[in-house]
Amino acid sequence: MKIEDLQIPDSVKQVIVDSGINELYPPQVEAIRSGALEERNLVLASPTASGKTLIAELCTLKHILERDGKALYLTPLRALASEKYQEFRKYTGIKKRSGRRIRVGISTGDYDRSDPWLGRYDVIITTNEKADSLLRHRARWMNDISLVVADEVHLLNDGDRGPTLEVVLARLMQVNPDAQLLALSATVRNAVEAAEWLKAESITTDWRPVVLKEGVFLHDEAQFKDGGALKIQKPTENPTVNLALHIIKSGGQALIFASTRRNSVSLAKKTALSVVTVLSKPMKRALSRIASRILATGERTRISELLARLVKQGTAFHHAGLGGGHRRIIEEAFREGKIKVICATPTLAFGVNLPARMVVIHDYRRYESGYGYYPIPILEYKQMAGRAGRPKYDKIGEALLIAKTADEQDYLMESYVLSEPERIWSKLGVERVLRAHVLSTIAADFAHTEQGIYEFFGKTFYAHQYDPRAIKGIITKILKFLYEEKMIGVSGGSLFATKFGRRISELYIDPVSAVVIRDALLSRAPKRTDISFLHMIAHTPDMFPKLRPYSREMDDLELFVDEHREEFTIEVPDEWSDRITYEEFLGEAKVAWVLDAWIEETTEDKTIEKFHVQPGDLYRLISTARWLLYASHELVRLLNSKDLQPHLSELTARVEKGVKAELLPLVRLERVGRVRARVLHNAGLKTIADLKRAPVDKLVGLPLIGTKLAKKIKEQVGGFVRADDWKKLKKDEAAKQKALTEY
Ligand SMILES: Nc1ncnc2c1ncn2[C@@H]1O[C@H](COP(=O)(O)OP(=O)(O)OP(=O)(O)O)[C@@H](O)[C@H]1O
Ligand SMILES: [Mg+2]
Repeated sequence: MKIEDLQIPDSVKQVIVDSGINELYPPQVEAIRSGALEERNLVLASPTASGKTLIAELCTLKHILERDGKALYLTPLRALASEKYQEFRKYTGIKKRSGRRIRVGISTGDYDRSDPWLGRYDVIITTNEKADSLLRHRARWMNDISLVVADEVHLLNDGDRGPTLEVVLARLMQVNPDAQLLALSATVRNAVEAAEWLKAESITTDWRPVVLKEGVFLHDEAQFKDGGALKIQKPTENPTVNLALHIIKSGGQALIFASTRRNSVSLAKKTALSVVTVLSKPMKRALSRIASRILATGERTRISELLARLVKQGTAFHHAGLGGGHRRIIEEAFREGKIKVICATPTLAFGVNLPARMVVIHDYRRYESGYGYYPIPILEYKQMAGRAGRPKYDKIGEALLIAKTADEQDYLMESYVLSEPERIWSKLGVERVLRAHVLSTIAADFAHTEQGIYEFFGKTFYAHQYDPRAIKGIITKILKFLYEEKMIGVSGGSLFATKFGRRISELYIDPVSAVVIRDALLSRAPKRTDISFLHMIAHTPDMFPKLRPYSREMDDLELFVDEHREEFTIEVPDEWSDRITYEEFLGEAKVAWVLDAWIEETTEDKTIEKFHVQPGDLYRLISTARWLLYASHELVRLLNSKDLQPHLSELTARVEKGVKAELLPLVRLERVGRVRARVLHNAGLKTIADLKRAPVDKLVGLPLIGTKLAKKIKEQVGGFVRADDWKKLKKDEAAKQKALTEY
């Protein structure tokens, strides 16, 4: 089926053809034949890179241009949302019937908003969490949605992210029963079941644009599913390294999956030693430039230095401990073919689009504390293997598991390569998960009676898969809790949310977190300090990531707890009578300790060394802390403890920027972060007035501040730079640059 034969406006055809697509892929044809363009609900389950997004694009444009409709595109991750945003941007030149051009919007940020401005857009791309929070704020424009696209719907199976997606879909079906629903999924065994739930037709295919050869590698030979085999050279003792070398020599790239961050780094180190031997000179120069970019991005740490060193050798590691800036540089350089090998943790398989000629699954086992080792699900294996083969570049892609013995090779062939992915199961039926959703059902006016609540949850995937009665008992218990904690009330047989309850729902926090915060704010801690508040938020179930103290830091941590004993808003649990609670407390104390170090301007590198907390984790910690402090600040208003507000505001700002209070006026300036603000402060430039008064060459003379930035600072503080001075500065800088390149 050709693009030009489709029942879509010519302007859309033009954009698609211009992007290099003339003909539909077979799964796309099937979707069209099943009525995708006639507003039929569909679950499209097909492998990675089989072109599911294009179907979503076609449906979206049909809605906008022919039905004056509006589309909501749901993704599980912020990175995916921005990827989709970029893809939809290509249609913004097209005019609608009204004569206005198509507008594409993205919203993934702050959860405490209804973002009415989003109503102006024709396509709105969000994360599932953001969509949930928008529904809680009853954003008006949600009622105008005529198409809902849900991407990566197999994540219904994910314990963390599944329930939100499930509730969002159930709510949207309730609010907009007539909207078309398009669910995109990896291949799973029970796509039909998900489709029944969504009142949709299901299409499942195994078709891929690039042939995928799956197999198992033993010693120096791969056995493939189709019976073929491949023997490769054995320049090193490590089969994974040998495979990487083999593929690079034939002009390809490799994506290697390791089970832990530590393994991904050590594999990258090993692989780099071999990869560097086969790089050309120009390639090395290009890699050198990427390494410099890595060092210039964010604070310099031992991790960024190691990464830069390996990237020079054509290899990188990629895991959640890296900052987002570094991850993006690596992804881009890999797509450009410069980085030859990425050793990653499995999170990469669920994130952005990053195919490679060869995928090596180095470990099929995963370690989780409390469980020990267990083999990964087939669904996860298929997601990783599916990354093999780059459409447009490769004819085939190869995905290999590594076996150590012939026996293991048989096991892997049988259990992964030849097996079908598992069924997906709803993870909604857990009290911890349901609490917030039960409250928001009442607070955002989705139901006002117990019966109404049961009815709503009776329409979830959980109720579809299990008996709805199974969930009823949990909901009853939650309602009792919400009532006792004064988040909901009863009046004339109907349920309503109190001001407190409504605000909790809007703030997007767990009701138990709200209880923790309320009790801490109302408690009369003998001494209320930064540590009191930082521990308070660390004690909520919303704090993420949880930190586990290392045995070597135990003594220091206990010392920290002892020093601040008077400041905690709960009593320190007794070490001997309740060991588990005590250890949990130490974990929370560690979070408070790390955050306190952050606002005392400890460098990222020191944070890695002292606390074993990597930048990626630190950023996540900061972003959760900011959110919970903001929520606390909002709750203070309701709780009549307004005297705490100034302290909380200041602390929130300090956590956001990672500075002592004295730097707050300086970090408000654009392009001045905590490092530069400290430089200015140390030079005696402590206030905006100081900066206004200071001559521009004084600024330029400081470390990390160039002419451009100096000018930018002057402009922001209301000072100005005289034309003569500016000319002289530019000249000086050019001379300095020249000198630098000469030596
Ligand atoms: N008919 C087509 N002809 C050529 N290229 C296409 C066609 N349809 C889609 N593509 C391209 O295929 C690539 C992968 O498509 P897409 O991202 O939609 O995959 P997907 O099915 O969503 O996979 P995943 O499960 O990984 O999200 C894109 O670069 C897209 O431009
Ligand atoms: Mg996709």
